[in-house]
This record gives sequence, structure tokens and C-alpha cells, in this order.
Amino acid sequence: MAPVIISDSSQMLALVEDQKRLGKRIGLIPTMGALHAGHLSLVERATKNTDFTVVTIFVNPTQFGPNEDLDKYPRNLQQDTRLLSAYNVDVIFTPTVETMYPAGASTRVVPPAVASPFEGRLRPKHFEGVATIVLKLFHLIPADIAFFGQKDYQQTRVIGQMIEDLDIPIQVQVCPIIREDDGLALSSRNAYLSDAERRQAVALSQALFCLQKMVEDGERNSNTLLEKAKQALADASIGQIDYVALVDKHDLSPVQQVDSNTIAIAAVYVGETRLIDNVFLS
Ligand code: PAJ
Repeated sequence: MAPVIISDSSQMLALVEDQKRLGKRIGLIPTMGALHAGHLSLVERATKNTDFTVVTIFVNPTQFGPNEDLDKYPRNLQQDTRLLSAYNVDVIFTPTVETMYPAGASTRVVPPAVASPFEGRLRPKHFEGVATIVLKLFHLIPADIAFFGQKDYQQTRVIGQMIEDLDIPIQVQVCPIIREDDGLALSSRNAYLSDAERRQAVALSQALFCLQKMVEDGERNSNTLLEKAKQALADASIGQIDYVALVDKHDLSPVQQVDSNTIAIAAVYVGETRLIDNVFLS
């Protein structure tokens, strides 16, 4: 059955409360739309693990910096609705910016410490915006389980810590990264890549897979591993590396020696397009 489309927040909350009274377990998948197989993998997981699935589509202005791509971020509600209709999704929640941020709404969530390095350092208000909108969505859709992708690894840690710190009664499931056949992690921003850039972009996941292989073969020294990854990116003419790092999976502190709790995270520019990716190294 085609999902119901709701844009009114009171109507959204009332519907979820009705379903909860009926004993239904609610699944929530927050997205910014322009859906691809990565998003759909979360949807599939939600429909299997809960009884009533809500997908939110909202391009959240507060998480974009002044020089970022808010205006050109892809929006295609018709196609998103068509894609979601192939799944057992109950509701698509598509509020307007005025609904989520009415005039005068200026309260923001101070994100936890894990939001400070990496994405947080390079995109100063990004996680404040993410934490604020996700907390608002948790209030409007008081789900049993919320589904997030490992693709945005630091985001999963920020949200996990916020849930713990603010006693939010929602469980989080982090779902694996869905990739193109050549390894490039699916992202709505991949649409910005020209054909030549698309060929270049594969170097990011390849550099991370190369680290995985080196660790499998016994290398544990972070400096040695990072040198290799940076060289691989330079060889592919990836000029701007925002970061490549080997960090603890919980608090994202850099590690000197890789162990089973280490994750490799990276952000680079391919042309004007910023791409992020990560792999566990255990
Ligand atoms: P968006 O970028 O649309 O992503 C929505 C969800 O899909 C996130 O949890 C993200 O990690 C997941 N996702 C994206 N690409 C994926 C891939 N290749 N494989 C698996 N999962 C993938 O992340 C956001 O939106 C926003 O910050 C949001 C949480 C909605 C708050 O505005």
C-alpha cells in the first residue's frame, strides 16, 4: 500500500500515538530525501524489525554551513515516494522548514564532545543542527527503534551519545554502508560528480580497503597505515584531504596502534564535491 504523506507535526504525533496504543512497534528512518539504495537498506531493515515504519524527508537547513550546498541539495519528493511505495512504509513525514523552525524558534541542542573533531571541526554548526532536528523528530515520532547508516559514522556516535545523555527512550540500529559495485559509498551528493570525478572518487573507498588489507596482513602502526592511505589518495590526484584518521570507535580519539576498536574515517574533496567514508579495521 502507498505510504500516507503527512506534513503536519500534530497529525504526525497523533498517528504514532494511536499506533503505539494498538501495541505497534514504531520504526523511524530520518533522511533528507534524494533516496538511494543506502537509505532503502535502512527502510528495509525497519520494515522487518518494527510494525509501523515512518520515513522522514526533510532537508534540514540548520545542519548546512553558510557556504555549503543547502540550495542545490537534490530534492525529488515524487521519486522518493515512488521508491518508498515499493516497501512496506506506513508514513512519509515531509514537514516544511516553517513547520520545523517557525519564526522565533531559536533553541538548539549542544551536541556531545564526540561532535567536536573531524566533521564538527570542519563544519562548525553541523552537529548542532543534526542533534536539534533529530531530537525534534524523536519527539514527533516517539519510535521504538531509529535506523541510521554507518556511512555517517560520527553522526551515529553523536546521536547515540545524545540519547544516552538526555535519557531518550529510543533504541538505535546502525546499518552497514551500501556501496556501488566498485566500492564508492552511495550518497545523495554523488549526483554532483562528473563522469571523470566519478572515476576518481573510487580512490576513497579503495584507500580505506587498502588499510583494511594491511591490518589483515599484520600492520598495526597508525602512522605507517595513514602514510599509505594518503599516498593512495594523492596518486589518484585527490588534492584536498579534509582528514584521514584511525580513531577509537567510541569517542573518536586518534589511536597510535590499531586494535579491534579502531575505525578508519576519511573526508576528501573530489572537485567541488565533499565525500566521506569509513571502514572498521578489526
Ligand atoms: P541523509 O544524508 O539523507 O541520510 C539518511 C540516513 O541514510 C543516514 O542515517 C545515513 O547514514 C544513511 N545513509 C546514507 N548513505 C548511506 C549508505 N551508502 N549506506 C547506508 N546508509 C546510508 O544523515 C542525514 O540524512 C541527516 O543528517 C539526518 C540524520 C536526516 C538529519 O537531518
